[in-house]
Amino acid sequence: MKFDPITIKDKTGVEILLRNAQLADAKDLISYLDKTAEETPYTLREPGEVKLSIEEEEKIIQQKNDSKTELMLVAYDGEKHVGNCTLMALGKGSKLQHRCSVAIALYKEYWRRGIGKTMMTTVIDLAKRIGYEQMELDVICENKKAIALYESLGFEKCGSIPHCLKFKDGTYADSYMMVRKL
Ligand SMILES: CC(C)(COP(=O)(O)OP(=O)(O)OC[C@H]1O[C@@H](n2cnc3c(N)ncnc32)[C@H](O)[C@@H]1OP(=O)(O)O)[C@@H](O)C(=O)NCCC(=O)NCCS
Repeated sequence: MKFDPITIKDKTGVEILLRNAQLADAKDLISYLDKTAEETPYTLREPGEVKLSIEEEEKIIQQKNDSKTELMLVAYDGEKHVGNCTLMALGKGSKLQHRCSVAIALYKEYWRRGIGKTMMTTVIDLAKRIGYEQMELDVICENKKAIALYESLGFEKCGSIPHCLKFKDGTYADSYMMVRKL
């Protein structure tokens, strides 16, 4: 969907632009999936697993931009990609139209600068305006800082999935499901 760009200041005083993903971001967005997977074990992919072509990524960006109910919100520090916060519909049928989900990851360099909270707040406000009634997410139980962020924004744990992720070394991680009424 269309999002009117905004500029925010992070906690260090740096100006960060929040805007729609654009086709020209495709290369950045592919390497972001890979690099954030190296920086944290809490994303859905192992490093090196992302096999998307530029054309496939462009298609995803276009789909999100054409959608009336989904948004890929990206943050940029000048030319540098900072991270993404994506609003997703949970289904197309009328029985699911009240539910959305959200996913967020920033490059490590930008953690703890208030950007994640601002992006989440922006997406929550937008989801409310679109008419969603609840926002949902999954978070790995050990990801304490993300859980602290979500709880500070009104998300509540509502269940858990044992062995949600299985890592290359054969170990597992459980996740919490969290929900926030809008
Ligand atoms: C989780 C993530 C999105 C948070 O974004 P961020 O910009 O670093 O967070 P903010 O600076 O906006 O902090 C917001 C709140 O989150 C919590 N938080 C963030 N980092 C924290 C840390 N290291 N320890 C404890 N709480 C933390 C705090 O409640 C904080 O509020 P406060 O600054 O008023 O104390 C970011 O760290 C990230 O991209 N991590 C890697 C990917 C990931 O785990 N994504 C979530 C998958 S479910």
